[in-house]
Amino acid sequence: MSITFRATKTDAGRVKADLLAVPVFSGRALGAGAAAVDEALGGTLAGFMEEVGFDGSPGEALAVPAGGRLGAKAVVLLGMGERDQVGLDGVRNAGATLARRASKVQSAATTLVDALPDSLDRAAVAQALAEGVALGSYQFLKYKGDAKASKLARVTVITQGGASVQAGLDRGARVSDAVTWARDAVNEPSAAKSPAALADAIRKLLRGKGVTVKVLDRTQILRERMGGVAGVAQGSDQEPRFVQVTYAPAGARGSIALVGKGVVFDSGGLSIKTAGGMETMKTDMSGAAAVAAAMSVLSDLGVKNKVVAYLPLVENMPSGHAIRPGDVLTIRNGKTVEVLNTDAEGRLILADALSLAYEAKPDAIIDLATLTGACVVALGEKVAGLMGNNDEWITQVRGAADRVGESVWPLPLPQEYRKLLDSEVADVKNVSGGGYGGALTAGLFLKEFTNGVPWAHLDIAGPARASSDDGYVVKGGTGFGVRTLIELVTTFSKPSS
Ligand code: BES
Ligand code: MN
Ligand code: ZN
Repeated sequence: MSITFRATKTDAGRVKADLLAVPVFSGRALGAGAAAVDEALGGTLAGFMEEVGFDGSPGEALAVPAGGRLGAKAVVLLGMGERDQVGLDGVRNAGATLARRASKVQSAATTLVDALPDSLDRAAVAQALAEGVALGSYQFLKYKGDAKASKLARVTVITQGGASVQAGLDRGARVSDAVTWARDAVNEPSAAKSPAALADAIRKLLRGKGVTVKVLDRTQILRERMGGVAGVAQGSDQEPRFVQVTYAPAGARGSIALVGKGVVFDSGGLSIKTAGGMETMKTDMSGAAAVAAAMSVLSDLGVKNKVVAYLPLVENMPSGHAIRPGDVLTIRNGKTVEVLNTDAEGRLILADALSLAYEAKPDAIIDLATLTGACVVALGEKVAGLMGNNDEWITQVRGAADRVGESVWPLPLPQEYRKLLDSEVADVKNVSGGGYGGALTAGLFLKEFTNGVPWAHLDIAGPARASSDDGYVVKGGTGFGVRTLIELVTTFSKPSS
């Protein structure tokens, strides 16, 4: 169940809640509401903080008694760091700390939004708080017998901000629901998310969300000449699907195509992975999940641009029907690909999806894909690689990601590496053969299928999944990219080609 957020003017001393959370900044500087707590405790708060070594650093939390003199039953102090250095991501992380501290109660109240400097927009802070609380309390318990679900159901935000704060909270709740859907989809075992089942889940998610959904089955995929999708899928007993989602508001300003890699399980195919390499490969549809999730909120958020999503869904398996190293596939745009490594499957299905996307002549294209282990080597588990064919568009993507607190970093697409993809028998081969620069050669491969339309590529192989909890990011599928995409299509302006 998602948490409800409500703004109120009731003061911190009187608000009714199981837990009241008030911010404390560096040097034990009391934030809004903390004075009321101090008063209820007879002015002992400073001494107590000092005694236990709580100094208001970011991420710190300290439970203090309520003394029976507050409307709230219990109090927690949230360390925020330097007051003038708190950003929106600091608010999200504080929200997550609050959520974990409040997981055993039903209702919490906080003064956090009004405690921050006026340089931060109130509605944006409220949105970040809702995101932090909702995403920080995320759990995937579907298959847990001894599930200890968070009980937190209601959060009251004590603010003078009124309607704009409430609007920010509502927006944050909506965005978090989308991220939560993506996390659930990624965490779901592959056996429960065949391409057909995932397509159905996407249809269900998008019902009544102001978009149209078209799902192609294997026969239609072949008829549409998507040789990459059909080729990768042919080793699996699970048939592929190709999902196309269209959001077309009246009087749309610009148009953006979103492409997401949807490999529901990546065994590597005949170029089979190691046992360890396969362990997390249910995650290989994170790009498609992020795109589908973003599509679910565009209408509710009143996005003014046309957005079309292209989601190739396949399972990559070895079998007597599987593509072999050396086989040649024909992509939708007519280019032929020699498949020398069947584990470089993402680029094959994306080639078809990008081809289909550029045919519709959008102003810009972006794809999200858990594409290469090499990108994880380069940038680690928390940062996505950003590549593309248009600097203006790349800058827009970077700006959107930075604003929502998703880390991306630009990587080059060096033309001098293009020849590494030359094939003896086909137009291009799917791997470079050499050992190094795998994220870049993968990007160069994708570029072949963009036909000069402004295009950006996010390699999310690292940040799509988290190996441990970190603030509002929870171990497992992260839903990385959902918030960047929403921000990007909201603030979009057509890049010059
Ligand atoms: N899905 C993987 C990439 C991946 C690796 C994602 C690790 C997340 C964590 C992709 O399909 C793949 O197997 N890529 C190969 C490419 C290689 C064969 C050129 C890789 O990175 O090893
Ligand atoms: Mn692979
Ligand atoms: Zn893959």
